[in-house]
Amino acid sequence: MDLLEIIKGRRAVRRFQEKPISVEDLRKIIEAAIWAPSGSNLQAWEFILITKKKNIEKIKMISPGLFGNPQALIVVCINKERAKKGGRLGEEMALMDISIASQNMMLMAYSLGIGSCPVASFNKVALNELLSIPKHVDPRLILIFGYPLKWPKPPRRRPLGEVLHLEEFGKHLE
Ligand SMILES: Cc1cc2nc3c(=O)[nH]c(=O)nc-3n(C[C@H](O)[C@H](O)[C@H](O)COP(=O)(O)O)c2cc1C
Repeated sequence: MDLLEIIKGRRAVRRFQEKPISVEDLRKIIEAAIWAPSGSNLQAWEFILITKKKNIEKIKMISPGLFGNPQALIVVCINKERAKKGGRLGEEMALMDISIASQNMMLMAYSLGIGSCPVASFNKVALNELLSIPKHVDPRLILIFGYPLKWPKPPRRRPLGEVLHLEEFGKHLE
């Protein structure tokens, strides 16, 4: 597949088949994450992979934004100790880094026929407790994965002519 086709084809998927994802494919998805760029190459990220059904169910109970029956979750976290090395901008950069890493994982998944959805709506205090996350690690996003029941239709995008500013803000394509 052409890269733009992959980027445009990926969808937030919230309904999945009861079909497990192979360890090999999960490995490829995480590998895509670690090759993301990061500010000063600090790689201030940690990824917690959850595939056991009973653990997924527990996380669902504390995550109002998590829908459906995903086969795997990846909790994407900032390692605040490492982020500190980036100085004043460290944590802000780390948030950008994990966002790029997350997109890498979702695109990798899509290229393998696997659907995903980012979930920001979860109870962080409960998640920290549930997964024994230490104080210097901050979970920011949960990615859910599974084979889609069907690929949803793409939601509308703001047109390029509206969001693209040429040379200065407010100047658009003719
Ligand atoms: C930072 C972020 C947080 C999101 N949180 C949730 C969420 O909690 N629950 C959910 O169902 N979808 C969530 N989404 C998915 C968006 O609703 C979805 O990406 C958007 O509607 C565009 O659809 P598309 O991804 O299919 O293009 C989130 C997306 C992003 C980028």
